[in-house]
Amino acid sequence: MSETHAQGHTPTRLDQRPEWHALGKHRDQLADTHLRELFTADPERASRYTLQVGDLHIDYSKHLVTDETLELLRELASAIGVAELRDAMFRGEKINTTEDRAVLHIALRAPLSSVIEVDGHNVVPGVHHVLTRMGVFADRIRSGEWTGHTGKRIRNVVNIGIGGSDLGPAMAYEVLRPYSARDLQFRFVSNVDGADLHEAVRDLDPAETLFIVASKTFTTIETITNATSARDWLLAALGDDAAVAKHFVAVSTNAEKVAEFGIDVDNMFEFWDWVGGRYSYDSAIGLSLMVAIGEEHFREMLAGFHLVDEHFRCAPAEENVPLLLGLLGIWYGNFHDAQSHAVLPYSHYLARFTAYLQQLDMESNGKSVDRQGNPVSWQTGPVVWGTPGTNGQHAYYQLLHQGTKLIPADFIGFAKPIDELGELAGHHDLLMANFFAQTQALAFGKTPEEVAAEGVPAELVPHKTFRGNRPTTTILASELSPSVLGQLVALYEHKVFVQGAVWNIDSFDQWGVELGKVLAKRIEPALTEGAEVPGLDASTKALVRRYRELRGR
Ligand code: F6P
Repeated sequence: MSETHAQGHTPTRLDQRPEWHALGKHRDQLADTHLRELFTADPERASRYTLQVGDLHIDYSKHLVTDETLELLRELASAIGVAELRDAMFRGEKINTTEDRAVLHIALRAPLSSVIEVDGHNVVPGVHHVLTRMGVFADRIRSGEWTGHTGKRIRNVVNIGIGGSDLGPAMAYEVLRPYSARDLQFRFVSNVDGADLHEAVRDLDPAETLFIVASKTFTTIETITNATSARDWLLAALGDDAAVAKHFVAVSTNAEKVAEFGIDVDNMFEFWDWVGGRYSYDSAIGLSLMVAIGEEHFREMLAGFHLVDEHFRCAPAEENVPLLLGLLGIWYGNFHDAQSHAVLPYSHYLARFTAYLQQLDMESNGKSVDRQGNPVSWQTGPVVWGTPGTNGQHAYYQLLHQGTKLIPADFIGFAKPIDELGELAGHHDLLMANFFAQTQALAFGKTPEEVAAEGVPAELVPHKTFRGNRPTTTILASELSPSVLGQLVALYEHKVFVQGAVWNIDSFDQWGVELGKVLAKRIEPALTEGAEVPGLDASTKALVRRYRELRGR
């Protein structure tokens, strides 16, 4: 591990590094240089500022950067030792220092021939063993061989999990619906609000329903509460405890807790503590997805992940896409005060992709102390947000185009619509015309002169002027296949890694979610029994009182 990232060392502070100061100076020199000027000055810019990784064509020409910016950013990464930390991750070193864990989601998609060791033990055979078990199970559900307690075929699969045990499978199922068994229904329950489970099961036949309880720890209160209620719902209909074995399977690292819940550990699919929740849907956490799309498509997706892993591990800095995207985020977040980052997919199937990325990015890099425990004095992870592009155009793009904030954005689009669309495939060119038009408008805008030349009255010219100079990355692929989804997710995983490495934070812990959990446990008896809770602040106490009145307690 590099000097910066080792615990117990006091590395040079990021903002005291000469490379950091050089970037600040360079930002001042570039000042308001407009993308119009940069494109005029370099007729090759559009072709020079593109990269290819797997099926993903990456155009970064519409960024507020020059060759010098990119060089300075790479020098910063090199001085910090980003590549060394990356190599330590791939070697299975315990780079998640606050939890003393290796970070090996890359092992989940490594070929069987790879050797990746944690504490001297090769973890790859175990990964493939579980994948094979998942494949057998998925086949049995898909073929109808696995039946419910009454002998009926399983028609509905309900995944119960939250955070990383929900967002990944739910997102990927939406993305890969066209590859899914259309005769099965898939639902995802995460919220402890009873409405979530109620709406998910109200029209289902319990005799045809399988629950997959997905929880790394198997102690998460939301998931255990939902799973317990799901079991009650099932048993109320089927009236026999033995039904649980046919209608419940678990995905977890905690066999003891799974058994305690009443699920046969033979029906448990394992993963490991070196897989972070938000990096886990390509592990057994993706079981519901594998049932939906089948083992072959799931493995195609894993191959897509692996392709980008290898690119990240081996590509030189100048061609390394996750490194580039990570550094561009540093450029805007730390040198242009950008607070947020928009991810705008031009595919309906990617509707939940940004929600998935919110956990990946914000739970990883929403930190304010460095690896050594010192407060950081630089901005860390951005607010990640966005929804499918065309819908956004009629909602919040106004702010992107003419607001006062700088919001870098990723535009993700595909050349081919899916085969199944039939006549509706004709919509695709219109969708993509919007995709291309938006990044053009954001980058180049419309000058007051251009507006006036259209005969617009003088008083309206300022309102119809677009300043432009709003940076975007365009990610274009041929089609949204399982492999391409894997490539996209791995790209963002490694981008987040790069940024955490630069900021010298632990991207793999999530202590920030703990306090709320502890307080909720403490407050619950105050709501139900009116118990006196020590340490409640005056505001919360009054709100609790009001809540009890409203509930007639
Ligand atoms: O919110 C914290 C968190 O630990 C996430 O990191 C995780 O994805 C989620 O809760 C669910 O945890 P589990 O899979 O253990 O139920």
